[in-house]
Amino acid sequence: MISIALPKGRLGEKVYAMLEAAGYGCKDVLNPGRRLVLYDPETDVRYFWVKPTDVGIYVERGAADVGVAGKDILDEYSPDVFELADLRTGVCRMCVCGKADFVDPVDRPLRIATKFPHIARRFFDSRGRDVDIVKLHGSIELAPVLGLTDVIVDIVETGGTLRENDLTVLETIGDVSARFIANKVSYRFKNAELSEMARSLGGS
Ligand code: PRP
Repeated sequence: MISIALPKGRLGEKVYAMLEAAGYGCKDVLNPGRRLVLYDPETDVRYFWVKPTDVGIYVERGAADVGVAGKDILDEYSPDVFELADLRTGVCRMCVCGKADFVDPVDRPLRIATKFPHIARRFFDSRGRDVDIVKLHGSIELAPVLGLTDVIVDIVETGGTLRENDLTVLETIGDVSARFIANKVSYRFKNAELSEMARSLGGS
């Protein structure tokens, strides 16, 4: 049996469609009702939906053999897992954003709002810039609009949220897309099955 942790939401549903097309379908995955674990004896695959930020934990600790997580989540939480394939979906960018007339206040730490404190700190550490990180859990764009912080580090997909709030991309930190990840022990003991699954999703 292969256990798969999918991130709740649109990205997870899209990746499930890819898995189904590759022959790893499971009845009722998209309509689970209150059931948390879905198993299909025909394909011998078991699915469960978890918060996107938790996928890496389930896979790292072996509760799931494989899972799907955005590169942003992997970079932020650094789970000890293998990355088997870039699924080339859920594509966006991790960026530093702020007002168009932003000027770096060099005489004090740069105040940054973000859901990704590790990514933000690593990026500014690499250029020796002191930062004051304010961790938020959503609506990050509000922070520079209200003067809570100077800038944000956040995901930009269409750019719509920035545009509608008079903000702009100041710098791109990196590209983000969904990755197919595997537990390290599972990868060793179920190598043929997991490699085949990764290949069918576009990995090598
Ligand atoms: C994400 C991200 C941005 C927005 C970017 O937020 O944090 O706010 O999407 O997308 P766009 O470039 O297409 O506008 P999300 O929708 O996850 O909501 P949140 O504010 O609750 O984090």
